[in-house]
Parts: sequence; C-alpha cells; structure tokens
Amino acid sequence: QITPVLLVGGSGTRLWPLSRKSYPKQFAPLIGQETLFQASAKRLSGAAQGLDFTAPLTMTNSDFRFIVTEQLAEAGIDPGAILIEPEGRNTAPAVLAAALYLAARDPEAVMLVAPSDHVIPDSDAFRAAVRQGLSAVEQGQLVTFGITPDRPETGYGYLNLTAAPDGSGAAIPLERFVEKPDLATAEEMLKAGTYLWNAGIFLFRARDILAAFETHAPGLIGPVGRAVAEAETDLGFLRLAPAPWSEAEDISIDYAVMERARNLSVVPFAGAWSDLGGWDAVWREMGPDAEGVVTSGAASAIDCSNSLLRSDSERLQVVGIGLENTLVVAMNDAVLVADMTRAQDVKKAVEVLKEKG
Ligand code: GDD
Ligand code: MG
Repeated sequence: QITPVLLVGGSGTRLWPLSRKSYPKQFAPLIGQETLFQASAKRLSGAAQGLDFTAPLTMTNSDFRFIVTEQLAEAGIDPGAILIEPEGRNTAPAVLAAALYLAARDPEAVMLVAPSDHVIPDSDAFRAAVRQGLSAVEQGQLVTFGITPDRPETGYGYLNLTAAPDGSGAAIPLERFVEKPDLATAEEMLKAGTYLWNAGIFLFRARDILAAFETHAPGLIGPVGRAVAEAETDLGFLRLAPAPWSEAEDISIDYAVMERARNLSVVPFAGAWSDLGGWDAVWREMGPDAEGVVTSGAASAIDCSNSLLRSDSERLQVVGIGLENTLVVAMNDAVLVADMTRAQDVKKAVEVLKEKG
C-alpha cells in the first residue's frame, strides 16, 4: 500500500485573479469541472494498475483546512488524516512531518509526495510510472519522476541521468539533482540531453526519507519532531505545535535533501504534465483552436489569434477583437489583460495591488 501525501500550500500568484492568497489555484476549477486538488487526490486514490492507495495524508494550513475537507468529500474521497502547519515553512518541514507521522505507525510505509496544483491528464500512465518506481523504493532509493524538458526553464529542478532511458520505463539512478539553475546552466543542461525536469513528485519509504533528513538536514529533526509529538487534535484535524514549528528552517525538500542525497533514482514519465506555472500554460492545457484561441465562460473572440479570453464571472461579458498573443481573464472583482509573453509577470499585479492596499 502507498500513502499519498498531498502538499497543499502556496498562493499561486501567477494565476491572479483566479488564484488568490485565500483561495489558491489548486482549489479553483481551472480546467474542466474538477479542481486541481480534487484531480490530484483522485489520481492517487483506490486500487488501479496494480497499485493500492490508502486514504491520503494532507499537509496544509488553517486557512485551507475546510476547503480541503469539503473538496475531498465532494470528490467522494476518504479524507484520511489532515495535518495543519501553524505557518508555511516550505516543503522540507512539511514532508518531514508527514514522514514522522507515518513512520510512527509503520516505518516501512511507502509515501508518494505530490503537489496538488499540477495537471496530469493520463492517470493510468502516471500510476504505471509509480509502479515502476516501487522496486527502486524497496532498495532504499528516493524516487523522483522526470519529464523531458523542451525549454531552459529556470523554475524547475533538473535530474542528471547516469544512463539514457532504455525505453523499459524502469527507474534510473541519478548522478545529481540541480534545483532551479540559472539560465546559462539550464541552457547547457537542455543541450546536454542527459537531464530531465523534476516533476516535484517523490516516492520513498518513510524510514528512508527520515534517514536522508538525519544526514542532510539534521537541524530540522528537533523542531519538526517536537511539533509532531506535541500536535493537538482540533475538530478532526491534527494541529502541529506552533512553538517548535516556528523554529524549523524555511526550506524546500529539493534544497534540503534532494540536492544532497546520493540514493536518488528517477522514473521517466512520458505522459503530459504541467505545473500550470502561468496563464500561458493554462491556455495551452485548455486546447487552443486552429487560430490558437481559447474562450471560456462568457467570452467571445472576433478575429483573434493565440489568445485566451476567459470570464469566470456571471456578470462580465468579455469580447476581444483583433487580439494577438493576449491574455484576458475576468472575475467579478478584477480583470487581467496581459501580453502572452509576460505571463510570468502576473505575480507583479499582486504586488502592485498589495501596495495600493
Ligand atoms: N503543505 C505545504 N506547506 N505545502 C507547500 C508549502 C508549505 O509550506 N510550500 C509549498 N507547498 C506545496 C505547493 O502548494 C506545491 O503544491 C508544492 O508544495 C511545491 O511547491 P512549489 O512552491 O510550487 O515548488 P516549485 O514549483 O517552486 O518547485 C518544485 O516543483 C517543480 C515542479 O513544479 C520543485 O520540486 C522543483 O524541483 C520542480 O521542478
Ligand atoms: Mg510549483
């Protein structure tokens, strides 16, 4: 059995105005009817492709706890355990807390750590990749999932393979893990052809990741261990103890463990994957027509090309005429109009609005 560990944090400001601090992108129906969080939980539930998942363990914060239970119930998924982080300390403390919680019940427990804001349309292909990772996990490996890169993206981790994939889909040992390289390094790695992107999904036994934390990030063990040991039950949620938790370093698992560990393997994943890092990615995933246009909700396009026109408002009609490479996203209380190539700068909109109060 595998326990899905769902990471639900972050505010996804690059998808403003749909994604807000109080209601980030994983809870909004970005593509289709289901939310990204619901789709992620479903992908990792029940028995299929020779895998058997337990109910999930969700790592989240107070603000999101009721959205999490509501959306799991709506999707017909057993909510499992929900651990509340008193404040966001990034993914390393969150994964460590989950590992400690699971290991206390069964040190051999296998955990699949997954973000809740990615799009993976082919669940069967993904589960087949997870199954491929299990034999490496039994040998004590920390397994990552690798995506073939198509651009020198600097927002991802890069996985350096020791050998070219042989087509069998089996896990390949990693030479090293490079988190968020600068552009020049990313360009070199793309050219080298021996790197995959880190999908941000990890598979390992609880005891192996605990051993990795002890070796590579020992400073986290004390505070996070105390926060788990002193956790209190609150309306069915398990609230980690705030005082020790606040002493945990704010660091991602990629920097704290993955860049330093030697027992890493990667399962190449050939299926479609997107972390919806901006509106341009959403536009791509929504399936542009022959002119490259996507309209959604109360939106229409006249003689437009390569554009997204989207209204998530019942009140606002959006009409674009002669637009090229343009993003238009309307909500009841905010409208975004941006050049497609500036999709990454949407987070600046949130900063500007914050300054304006
Ligand atoms: N519970 C919890 N607590 N979850 C968190 C926290 C936290 O403090 N911080 C982030 N998360 C969640 C986010 O909601 C997201 O689902 C996931 O953990 C990853 O965090 P991001 O902040 O989105 O990481 P990233 O996108 O910069 O980088 C990671 O993902 C890339 C692929 O999308 C890395 O693993 C990269 O190596 C990888 O390429
Ligand atoms: Mg991300």
